[in-house]
Amino acid sequence: MKILVIGGGGREYGIAKRISLDERVEKIYVLPGNGGISEFAECFDIKATDLDGVRDFVLEHPVDFAVVTPDDPLALGMADMLRGMGVSCFGPSKAAARIEASKIFSKDLMKKYGIPTAKAESFDSKAAASCYIASQDYPLVIKADGLALGKGVFICRSHEEAAEALHELMDNKLFGKSGERVLVEEFLEGPEVTVLTFTDGKTVKPMVASMDHKTAGEGGTGPNTGGMGVIAPNPFYTEKIAAECMERIFLPTVRAMEKEGCPFTGCLYFGLMLTKDGPKVIEYNCRFGDPEAQTVLPLLETNLLDAMMATENGKLEETPVVFSDKAACCVVLASGGYPGKYEKGKPISIGVLDEGTEVVHAGTRMTENGFVTAGGRVMNVISTADSLKEAVEKAYKGAEKVSFEGMYLRRDIGKIALDRI
Ligand code: AMP
Ligand code: GLY
Repeated sequence: MKILVIGGGGREYGIAKRISLDERVEKIYVLPGNGGISEFAECFDIKATDLDGVRDFVLEHPVDFAVVTPDDPLALGMADMLRGMGVSCFGPSKAAARIEASKIFSKDLMKKYGIPTAKAESFDSKAAASCYIASQDYPLVIKADGLALGKGVFICRSHEEAAEALHELMDNKLFGKSGERVLVEEFLEGPEVTVLTFTDGKTVKPMVASMDHKTAGEGGTGPNTGGMGVIAPNPFYTEKIAAECMERIFLPTVRAMEKEGCPFTGCLYFGLMLTKDGPKVIEYNCRFGDPEAQTVLPLLETNLLDAMMATENGKLEETPVVFSDKAACCVVLASGGYPGKYEKGKPISIGVLDEGTEVVHAGTRMTENGFVTAGGRVMNVISTADSLKEAVEKAYKGAEKVSFEGMYLRRDIGKIALDRI
C-alpha cells in the first residue's frame, strides 16, 4: 500500500512512524513532513493547507489511503477533496470539521442535543459582548470562535482582563477572522481529561485517556500553548466516568453530527473537565491531539492503519482497538520564547536514549550538519513503562540527552496525575 500523511509536526511523526512499520506499507509520503520524518518517509515541501498542491501531488503519486491530521487542512476541506479524487481518507469532511473550526457551532450543537458543557453566549458585536461581561461573575472564559493554534482561549480573572481579551480579539484582531465572533463562557473547575476516539460516524471506540499540560509555565501558569506534555492513562478517568462519558457525551455527539447531516469520521477529540456536576465538554477537536497522539499511540496494541481504515469504510464496530495497560509520558522540548516569538535554526544534539524512550521530531529541519530547530515545539521525548511514575522519570531522563540553545521544558509533567495516584 502507498500511504499519504498530511502534516509535519510531532503528531504526524508519531502516526507516520507507526504506519511505516506496517508490513503492508511499501511507501509513505508525508507533506510537508519535518527533519525527523524524512528519515523514514518521503517528504515533499507542500504545505498541509495547500489543497491545490496536494491535489497535483496525488495526481502524480497515486496513493491507496490518506491520513489528514492537522485541523486547518480539514477545516479547508482537504478530506472532501481527496475523497472527490477517489482517495479514501482518514479525517472528517469540512462540514464535520466545524466541530473544532467553530466553537460557536460546537456550543450550539451541545446546547441543542443536551450534551453537558459550560454555559456560554456567543457574540459577533464587541458592544454586546462588552455589555454582557460587565454583568458576569469572575473568573470568566473568552474564546475566539475560530482556529487559533490552541491559543484563542482567555481565562479572565477580572472584568478588566475580560475587556482586554475582547479588545485583543475584536479590535486588534489578534487571530484575524477567527476572533470576529467570540464565545463568553462559564469557568469550570476540575481535573482535565483528553479522550481521543476513533469513530466511523456510528460506532465510537475510545483510546486510552490522557492528560495534556496546556500552559507554558509550571503549575498551570503562563499563556496557553498547543500542549507542553502529556501523560496516559489519566488516573482521574475511572471506568465509571468512562461509561458516563460514552453514554452522555461520546455517542450523543456522534449521533448529533449525523442528525445535522455532517456525520463525523476519523478521530474525534474530547477535551473534558470532570466537574463536581459530572464530566463536561471543554472542547472538541476534529483530529488527534498533538502531543496526545504520539503519547497514546505507543500503547495501541492493534493495528493503527486497520482502525483508521475502519473509520472510513464503516467497519469500526468489528475492528478491534485494544490498548496495553502500560503508561506513557511525553515531555515537550520547546524553543525559548514559545508560544511567543522564538528563534529558529539552532543545532540540536541528541544522545543515546534508553529502551522504551524515543525522540519524536516536531519542529526540526535536517541540514548538512545535522538537525536544527524549525518550530516552537521542537521535540517530544516519549517513554512507556509499567507505571506512570516510571514513565515520567524515563521521559525526563531522556530529555536530559537532548539539547539546543534556549531549550525550554516544563518540569512538572505528570505531577497532578502522580499526586492523585
Ligand atoms: P481549549 O483550547 O478550548 O481546550 O481551551 C484551552 C484550555 O483553557 C483548556 O484546556 C482549559 O484548561 C481552559 N479552559 C477552556 N475552557 C474553560 C472553561 N470553560 N473553564 C475553565 N477552563 C477552561
Ligand atoms: N494538545 C492539544 C491539542 O492538540 O489540541
